[in-house]
Amino acid sequence: MIDILDRVRNTALHAKIVSAEEAAAFIKPNMNVGTSGFTPAGYPKAVPLALAKRMEKEPFQINLWTGASVGKELDGALAKVHGIKRRMPYQTNKDLRAQINNGEVQYCDLHLSESAQLARYGYMGGKIDVAIVEACAITEDGNIIPTTSMGNAASYVQTADVVIVEVNTSQPIELEGMHDVYVPLDPPHRLPIPVVKPNDHIGTPYIPCGLDKIKYIVACDIKDDVRPFGEIDENSHKISQYIIDLFHKEVKEGRLPANLLPIQSGVGNVANAVISGFVDSDFTDLSVYTEVIQDGMFDLIDAGKLSFASGTSLSPSPTGLDRFYNNIKEYRKKLLLRPQEIANSPEVARRIGIIAMNTAIECDIYGNVNSTHIMGTKMMNGIGGSGDFARNAYLTCFFTASTAKDGLISSIVPMCSHIDHTEHDVDIIVTEQGLADLRGLSPRERARVIIENCAHPDYKPMLMDYFERADKATKHAHTPHLLKEALSWHERFVETGTMKQ
Ligand code: COA
Repeated sequence: MIDILDRVRNTALHAKIVSAEEAAAFIKPNMNVGTSGFTPAGYPKAVPLALAKRMEKEPFQINLWTGASVGKELDGALAKVHGIKRRMPYQTNKDLRAQINNGEVQYCDLHLSESAQLARYGYMGGKIDVAIVEACAITEDGNIIPTTSMGNAASYVQTADVVIVEVNTSQPIELEGMHDVYVPLDPPHRLPIPVVKPNDHIGTPYIPCGLDKIKYIVACDIKDDVRPFGEIDENSHKISQYIIDLFHKEVKEGRLPANLLPIQSGVGNVANAVISGFVDSDFTDLSVYTEVIQDGMFDLIDAGKLSFASGTSLSPSPTGLDRFYNNIKEYRKKLLLRPQEIANSPEVARRIGIIAMNTAIECDIYGNVNSTHIMGTKMMNGIGGSGDFARNAYLTCFFTASTAKDGLISSIVPMCSHIDHTEHDVDIIVTEQGLADLRGLSPRERARVIIENCAHPDYKPMLMDYFERADKATKHAHTPHLLKEALSWHERFVETGTMKQ
């Protein structure tokens, strides 16, 4: 208790410290609840767990808005008691995914940069009734020092009638000063976002809130539910090598500076492998402008190769988190967390010319990318920030293994079964087979390069056969397709369990 009293710096607020159960009792059926959290980092834990317990006894549902995916104490606990009616803007939880795909949960899969603005305008089913925000501390003036993520917390606090703050004493107080909170004005009053370099500070180190808006304060000591990464596999290693070779070529040809441009890297094992690949490269003075800061970035800092990383969430593995906490005073000099509206801002991405690197579920022979839907129908996670970056980057790269499910699925297909990133957004596709550079190519040229460089040998002849027949049948149309056949590979997999003929 002493620790939380120290962290709630205005003693007048001490009277608002209550149990998680008491705070959770404030939440009523069908309320719009906006929380902090982006990946399993910086999300509230104690109040959602108490809420889930209450829902178990007296079933009801809420609409849940977060920054992105969150940990098991929030999405996991609420999904288990069927407590979520609507969800936005991104998730990765297994139970929630099942409920999204059986019609139980209405899921609004959004570009992450846009979600705060949509919430501020009240487009997401009305205004936010209550914001629940994890904090490191609350200042004298009632402003909130966030923890390991920023996400949409600042906008939810701004918009909500009522704020519940979870002060997490497991989060080191040294996180204070690592945030840069800037909420843009809404159109028609918006001004340019003044970020011109990843290390530009443009806002406050706290979420403006004020003493009156805070209704309850809850103590929590549950740690972020961060997950371990798998070993870097052979495919990820090869993909990382191909992309680093490309960067060398680009520097040589004068299209990239020697220290590249700010790097954006998606989540997961391939992304982490690619960032780690830079450690063994001869690139130095790198910068990062991204969503999620993972272990690879600590490797780069330790190797003296990273000058600065800006993100919206610190989401390393459990060992990465220990490493960060043990050396937080040094790492914090090179790291900054911003609201996702700024970290993922299309305006900033286009201005500073980021290199976007994200993972695809499948790519088609013309360069369209599906990041979200399995066999065109089932939601996997969501588009996340991939669209914010893909359309606006200087160089847009997508990675995928050339096959999935032990080779029964080709990740290079005649036509994507769902499209998140169009051919117009995609510059580079890389699989463990090779790299396709699509810049400046027409669709028919792209098809040959993608099939030749990226497809698995088991599927290459089938893809080339499809393309040649489509080209002939359409008399060399701009984007040749055989409409009756274009999605037949997916149909075959659903019916027979393999895309192979
Ligand atoms: N067809 C069908 N299923 C496929 C597939 C394909 N072409 N490719 C992969 N899968 C399946 C895998 O088999 C696996 O299934 P499982 O969960 O049943 O084992 C699942 O999809 C995830 O694939 P995996 O290879 O483990 O990929 P990953 O963890 O690297 O995630 C994405 C890949 C695309 C799902 C993930 O990166 C994502 O959600 N991206 C969208 C959001 C994004 O880009 N965020 C970052 C932006 S900053």
